Amino acid sequence: MIEVNDLTKAYGDTVVLDGLNFAVDSGEIFAVVGPSGAGKSTLAQCINLLERPTSGSVVVNGEDLTRLSYKQLRVARRRIGTVFQSSSLLSRRTAAENIALPLEYLGVTKGEAERRVRELLDRVGLTDRANAYPFQLSGGQRQRVGIARALALRPSVLLSDEATSGLDPQSTSSVVALLRELRDDLNLAIVFITHEMNTVLEIADSVARLDRGSIVESGRLVDLLTDHASALGRDLQPRRLDGDAKSGDAVWVVTYDSPDVPADWIGRVAADLGAPVSLLGASVQVVGGVSIGSATIGVAKDLSAHVPATLARYGLQTSSQHDARTLGVVA
Ligand SMILES: Nc1ncnc2c1ncn2[C@@H]1O[C@H](COP(=O)(O)OP(=O)(O)OP(=O)(O)O)[C@@H](O)[C@H]1O
Ligand SMILES: [Mg+2]
Repeated sequence: MIEVNDLTKAYGDTVVLDGLNFAVDSGEIFAVVGPSGAGKSTLAQCINLLERPTSGSVVVNGEDLTRLSYKQLRVARRRIGTVFQSSSLLSRRTAAENIALPLEYLGVTKGEAERRVRELLDRVGLTDRANAYPFQLSGGQRQRVGIARALALRPSVLLSDEATSGLDPQSTSSVVALLRELRDDLNLAIVFITHEMNTVLEIADSVARLDRGSIVESGRLVDLLTDHASALGRDLQPRRLDGDAKSGDAVWVVTYDSPDVPADWIGRVAADLGAPVSLLGASVQVVGGVSIGSATIGVAKDLSAHVPATLARYGLQTSSQHDARTLGVVA
């Protein structure tokens, strides 16, 4: 596990990270989200001690890395594997040779390194691409090579800084699926840094939002999603808008997280209102055993006063913030 205590990083007078606290257990994925410039990459570099924190501690498996000498740190750092956005593979080395790099630095014998590389290629599902060069691999495959390389020295913590950013949805899903597998099979503590909210929904057990160097909100993903007072939970809700609203309709974002919502709620709400309800988009996901979702519906504007109470009858929520912020009323 990894624990970050009162972590602060300043460059001169500029405080980039301001007293961060969090812990990630083995077998858990902790996502860090936040806008550009929030300090996410600085946090990544402080976690693997590429940058020395100004104050505070980074504790991995009970050992405070910030107290180690440079020489001790070189060994301790092996407990943290890191994957970056463009995975920085060496272009003149094959996938297998890239994965072997950390083993070569460590002076592992050739035979042993080959065996380990085969194991890692299999682990990330790239056995048949062992001899491909980076330019011959897809973006998702390159990231999986980067992950295999990060795992070469058997770390207990995996740190990922925008590892899926810029990938197409299918490659993102393959990388996300791999990270979840690694969490479960290798019992890794994974710190997953991203600015992509929809990826967080697929991957995270817990989430923290970093803003201007501070954690402004954090919690278990399922708790945030079901907490109607949580701004982060609201931003994480799955949403998709497919259809077009009819003129004269008000558009509502309906969220549900209750197991009691009937499958035919749209028909029932329409019957109660005595007017058609159009489904403009919907996205539902099962998180921690609870169906979390949102649907976007259109209802004649002159019925607006009745909509919230009618929805509530079926265990559905609609929040005025959603309406005002994301969609408003269609004229
Ligand atoms: N070496 C440095 N010296 C001075 N300021 C720095 C240094 N490194 C980063 N910063 C500042 O720290 C802040 C956070 O940068 P950081 O790269 O951690 O943001 P980020 O959240 O990773 O952003 P992005 O989403 O764009 O990757 C920025 O304002 C940046 O200018
Ligand atoms: Mg960054």
